[in-house]
Formats: sequence, C-alpha cells, structure tokens
Amino acid sequence: MQPNAHLGGSRFPSMTASEARPGFVRAAVLTLALALATSGPARGQAPPIAPGNAPKSEKKPNLTNDTGRPVGSDDRSLTAGPEGPTLLENEYLIEKIARFDRERIPERVVHARGVGAHGEFVVTDDVSKLTKAAFLARPGIKTPVFARLSTVVLPSGSADSARDVRGFAVKFYTEEGNYDLVGIDIPVFFIRDAIKFPDLIHALKPSPVTNVQEPERFFDFFSAVPESTNMMTYLFADQGTPASFRKMDGFGVHAFKWVNADKEIVYVKYKWQSMQGLKNFTDAEAKAVGGNEPAAETHDLHEAIKNHDYPSWELRVQVVKPEDLRKFDFDPLDATKIWPESIVPFQPVGKMTLNRSPDNFFEETEQVAFNTGAYVPGIEPSEDRLLQGRNFSYGDTQRYRLGANYQQLPINQPRHPIANDNQNGRDDHAARAGDINYSPSTKRPDRLVADPKVKEVGMFLGDKFVATSKNPENYKQAGEHYLSMSPTDRDHLIENLTGLFKKVKNRDIVAKMVGHFHRANDELGKKLAEANGVDLEQAEKLVAAQAMPAR
Ligand code: HEM
Repeated sequence: MQPNAHLGGSRFPSMTASEARPGFVRAAVLTLALALATSGPARGQAPPIAPGNAPKSEKKPNLTNDTGRPVGSDDRSLTAGPEGPTLLENEYLIEKIARFDRERIPERVVHARGVGAHGEFVVTDDVSKLTKAAFLARPGIKTPVFARLSTVVLPSGSADSARDVRGFAVKFYTEEGNYDLVGIDIPVFFIRDAIKFPDLIHALKPSPVTNVQEPERFFDFFSAVPESTNMMTYLFADQGTPASFRKMDGFGVHAFKWVNADKEIVYVKYKWQSMQGLKNFTDAEAKAVGGNEPAAETHDLHEAIKNHDYPSWELRVQVVKPEDLRKFDFDPLDATKIWPESIVPFQPVGKMTLNRSPDNFFEETEQVAFNTGAYVPGIEPSEDRLLQGRNFSYGDTQRYRLGANYQQLPINQPRHPIANDNQNGRDDHAARAGDINYSPSTKRPDRLVADPKVKEVGMFLGDKFVATSKNPENYKQAGEHYLSMSPTDRDHLIENLTGLFKKVKNRDIVAKMVGHFHRANDELGKKLAEANGVDLEQAEKLVAAQAMPAR
C-alpha cells in the first residue's frame, strides 16, 4: 500500500524563477481541475496529473481566461451591438472584474507591512553536542531560508521608518520540516503573559473612533503594565527607528530548548547579529524619511540585493543549562528580560545571507506564514508563558488569513514529504492518493510509524523555576539598559518620550509613566519629571496605588 504522502509538486525555494511564476502554478492547478471535471476519477483514485507536474506547452501563450480558453479581446467588452450595453455573457469581463474584486486577503492583524527575501543559512560552528537538529548537525550545512522583516502596528500602506518594533521572521526549509524563528529587533517584549497580547495591540493600534494611533491610549495601557518599562527604553530610544532593515539585529526574545541525541536539554536565546553594523534614525530623521518616501526601507533591501550587496546576519546563541536557570535573580523564562551578556556570553552558530528578492510580493511575502509552533526535532518551546500563547496564535491566524490549507501554498511548503490524514477544506490541492485516510488500518500497516528519536522532552512544572509572578523584577533591567546607553541616546530617549507625553491630555498617565521610569533609574525619572512638569512624589504614589497583586 502507498502511504498517503504528498509532496505538492516542486518545492518553491528550489524552483527556478520561471517555474515559480504564478502562471505556472495556476495553470497546473487549473489543468488538474479541468482534468478532474472532464475525466471524473473515482473518489480516492490518484488524479491523472499532480499539481505542479502538468506538461508545459511549447507554444508562446496567447491570452486566455482562467480556464485556459483563448480570449478575443482584453480591451473591449462584448456589447449588444455598437450602441448597446455590455453583455452578461462576456465571461472574460466578468471573470476579470470578479478576480479583481477578490484581490485582497485580510492583512496580518499585526506586522502588516513587511519586506521579504530568499536566502540561505550556513552552519559555521559545531553545535551538535547541544542539539540534534539535522540542519545544525555540522559546519557547512546549507539550508534555504525566507526572511520577512516588518513593522508591527500600522497598516500595510504605512511608512516603514515609523517608530515601532521591527519583525525579524525567518523560515528555514530544513530536511526535517520547516523551522520558523519569529523574532524582533529588540531583545525583550512588552508583556510576559499571552493573555495581555490583544490588549497591548488594541492600545497600540489606531483608535477605534478616530483611526489614528494615539499616545494617550498606549501610555494609558503602559502606565498600568510596569513590565513594559524595559522594552520602552529600547522602543522610545533611537533603536525604535532603525535606518535600514539590513542594519538592525534580530532576537528570538524567548528562551527555547535545544535537545541533543542523548535527550539532554539546554535553554537558548537567539540573536541575529547584523554584519552591516547597526544604524538608527533620530526621531526627526525617521519622520522626514517616512514623509518623503514611505517605502524607503523596503526599497533599501531590494536595492542592496539587486546590487549583489547581500545582507547577512550571524546567528548566535546564549546557552544555559536547566540547573543554572535557578541561579538568576529574576525569572529567566520571562520574555521581558534579557540574559545579561556579562553572565551568559553569545556563541556563534551560523550565518544567514539574503540574496534573492521575491518574484511576486503577494505570493511570497504576503502569503508566507510563520508559526512559532513550527519546530524541528532538537528544538522545542520553553515554559515561557508568552511563547506558549504564541504557539497557538500563529497557526490559528494563518488558517483565518490564508485558509486551512495555507501550508500547501508554494512559499510555505516544507521540503520534507508530508504524511498524515489531514485533508480537504478550501483550496486543498495536495494530490493525495489512495482511499485509506484513517489510522490504524490493516491495509496500511507501515503507516504513521512514530519516530522514537523525535520525542519531545516535555515541560517542567511546579516551582522548579522562580515563578514570574513571585519575582516580577519589572525595573532593574530597564535601569541597566538606560545606563548602558551613550549620553546622546539617553537624551534622545528623554526627548522622544517627552514629545509623545505632550500629546497625552490625562496628566496622571504621564505622571505614572514618569514614575515607572524613575523606579528604573533615578536620573531618567528626574529628567523626565523636569521635562514634563511632573511631581515625582505624586508619580510614585500613583504607581504604588495600582500595583498588581502577585498571583
Ligand atoms: C502572545 C504574544 C503574541 C501573539 C499572540 C502574537 C501574534 C501574532 C500574530 C497573530 C501575527 C500575525 C501573523 C500573520 O498573520 O502572519 C504575528 C506576527 C508576528 N509576530 Fe507575533 N505575537 C506575539 C508576540 C510576539 C513576539 C514576542 C514576537 C517576537 C519575539 C513576535 C513577532 C512577530 C513577527 C516577526 C510577526 C510577523 C511575521 C511575518 O513577517 O509574517 N510576536 N504575531
């Protein structure tokens, strides 16, 4: 018996540019649809032509409709005589307009604006003692990747120099399935529990009344969420306005588990270190660039690739043994914290180079679907509560945004053959064969054999680690980060915050914000208080009054 395995045709990342053109894929799918419609194979029989394998015509293509029928004119609608109205029987006109009417899909609920590029990841250092992940097994192994670099809050038409977090998402097409490392350009996050994510995004997004992003709303939220103080010392400094996607680092933020062949675990945090160096705009520069050329940073990445000035990043990891997690004086699995480099240095793993812009923005950059739940054997989630929420959210949102069969889209197809009984749903063209779509089955004894080497190591429960809620430590790293900044960066942080605080009418919100920053660092608090006319004693009272009870 044949296992119900399907490859879904050619693998997109390894296709040539001409094979990967939309027309090829569409023609193949439509050829299949036509073949099924005319020959009507019995349910469960192998279709005559698998998608992606349809024979290509040698002829130069003429204009056709979407079923392949030649079309008479692309310029004039069919009318009832020279003076008459347009006819409904003009199927090509109707198809053309109906297709146009359906060109948009929902934009990503966050990270709507982004630029993508293909490239490769090459292992440079031996990490095989730490993880059994096959794509990291030895130096020299190359893995194709697709990266999408993005802004978070504003819609897809917004300026990509806006003050915002930058997304740094990388899909590795490994021989053991896709691995998605979905990070940002800042090493920490605003919140530590996924249950607050919708609130965070609602506060940051444009107001539901005015459709304008309002500091009043997001500072109202942040002033009540003290764990966001650390992230704000990055976002409101010049690091919040990177001058180029090429000139920023990326961070996985969470701790992940690496598991080796002996099932030994280490905890890792990832960093993509830019080989182009770092460059940020000042607030004024970012506004000027965004006003002049909203797509400047998208353009910058495409131009660099076009000029063979391929951007690259070194992947580095911090590694901590499980027994050492308890040695931190904060919860090391709390996403609002870094692991200080002075305690846990980074070690190199490999290098990613982006060397090819997509042939089609929609089919690749827009339809690429990242998922923090896409792991490969040897890499697993940690107990981080924010990460656990993300692991649900991404697959869920892709099924909404792109449909249940989003993994069949060429940009998302894994290189590893898929073998399971998931089936059907809208846009299913996986070309599955055979009538055994259940398990176990006596007719398919070799089916779905679990690989004992791929066992997950599981989660630690109980009070094994310092529980976040018992030791939230909301301000210490924010203060340390402030002290690590240059005098200019410190001044800009204060100026940028003050510029935004001026737009906040409720002065208690501003006072609470200043109170949080004061708890992080005395100088930062005092300078902000002075610039914003805030009484520090009053600010401290307001912050103390809203302290959340520990759970
Ligand atoms: C519980 C917290 C979070 C939730 C529920 C969440 C949810 C989402 C959702 C729904 C999307 C849109 C995906 C799509 O439509 O393709 C998204 C995109 C993204 N998120 Fe998160 N997110 C969370 C936290 C984070 C954190 C902590 C990071 C970074 C460490 C991050 C990085 C990204 C990136 C880079 C993208 C864009 C991916 C792309 O380019 O397509 N998110 N997130």
